[in-house]
Amino acid sequence: MATGRVSMHGQWSSRLAFILAATGSAVGLGNIWKFPYIAGENGGGAFVLIYLLCIAVIGIPIMMAEVMLGRRGRQSPINTMRTLAAEEHASPYWQWLGWAGMLGGFLILSFYSVIAGWALAYVFRAGSGLFTGLTADGVQSIFSNLVSEPERLLAWHTIFMVMTMLVVSRGVSQGLERAVRLLMPALFVLLLVLVGYAWNSGGFEQGLEFLFRPDISRITPNGVLIAMGHAFFTLSLGMGAIMVYGSYLPDNASIAKTSIAVSLMDTLVALLAGMAIFPIVFANGLEPDSGAGLIFQTLPIAFGHMDGGAFFGMLFFILLVFAAWTSAISLVEPAVAWMVENHGLTRIYASVLAGIVTWVFGLLTVFSFNIWSDFKPLSMISIFKDHTIFKLLDYLTANIMLPLGGLLIAIFTAWKMHQESSMDELAMGEGFAYRLWRFLVRYITPVAVIIVFLNVTGII
Ligand code: TRP
Repeated sequence: MATGRVSMHGQWSSRLAFILAATGSAVGLGNIWKFPYIAGENGGGAFVLIYLLCIAVIGIPIMMAEVMLGRRGRQSPINTMRTLAAEEHASPYWQWLGWAGMLGGFLILSFYSVIAGWALAYVFRAGSGLFTGLTADGVQSIFSNLVSEPERLLAWHTIFMVMTMLVVSRGVSQGLERAVRLLMPALFVLLLVLVGYAWNSGGFEQGLEFLFRPDISRITPNGVLIAMGHAFFTLSLGMGAIMVYGSYLPDNASIAKTSIAVSLMDTLVALLAGMAIFPIVFANGLEPDSGAGLIFQTLPIAFGHMDGGAFFGMLFFILLVFAAWTSAISLVEPAVAWMVENHGLTRIYASVLAGIVTWVFGLLTVFSFNIWSDFKPLSMISIFKDHTIFKLLDYLTANIMLPLGGLLIAIFTAWKMHQESSMDELAMGEGFAYRLWRFLVRYITPVAVIIVFLNVTGII
């Protein structure tokens, strides 16, 4: 607020535009594809409870911290951290937080794009009526046919990367605002339609019980880390995406209110997705822990049996692609903003470069589902015994890099940055709300992340 800095990349037109963009970043495959399948793999209710707890006590405060740092620095995360570290008399090494985030963004987008490619492929499968009347077996074989062919996955991955880079090269605020304003509510309505189908599927009670009745005996230390990692992943935290979006936030917008609004919407979408999917799982005798293909093996059953299913199915996957699209652009924006700032590249050139790097990394994921599906590089470690390269990449980024990034953000904002600076930028006074925020960021986040890490490694 008091710094008077402006971003060379422009600014959101309003507070609402920021909320839309940040929601667009947060709501994506993480909510609809990843949340249900990892909740299924990690025992359901207890996992969901820990995830919700992490959103409340770590996610929301860290989102506020990231937006705050971004708006104060008004540059790409690397340069924001460099500037703020100098201003707060902290070590220049803090800019490495920005670097790690940039790497994390590339790695995440590399697999994100492949999965978004599945959703793209399903737009056509659904629209052609392929799912009509299919049983669980039929739906399953459609899925395995898709992922077993590297050329197909590669083609869809390429298309999605091109789509992403097209938007990024034009600047994130162009067009994004309108897309999110229209499509997010539509996605929400379609999820409600699916929950409605699930309600009548015969498995609703069992599905809800699985999702919401915590059975503490089913949670492991690794499950806790996965729940915490997912809180970062689903809110786009820990690698600078929300920070760079914050750098385009108008000075007078309330950081606390916007962060809470975005987090609530994100959580609601994930819970709805879970409520749509698990009843279908149980009604059709499927396994909740069947892994990354879960939504692609359950929702088509619903579309195959409801009136207008081909239409709804196609629409659903289109909206899922949009949700993934608005998330994907936030994963490369930190890198693109940095290339423009420090190397004088045009946005177009920077986007192409970022796209090529990510596309190449994406090959690792493409092959993980077919020719390298038996390659388990870290099988000697028990929690990784059946982790393909894709699963390792996901684990490394979501469960290690993002919580570490969050930890460092917490330490910087609540220990290194002067209290006057954060108070000035958050502009929420010095009352209870501010003190609660600071307490959560200063103590709870660091302690929680460290304890969960030590617990998984077996040190405590
Ligand atoms: N939050 C998005 C989702 O749930 C994914 C995402 C976008 C992301 N930007 C991010 C994850 C930054 C981690 C960090 O699908």
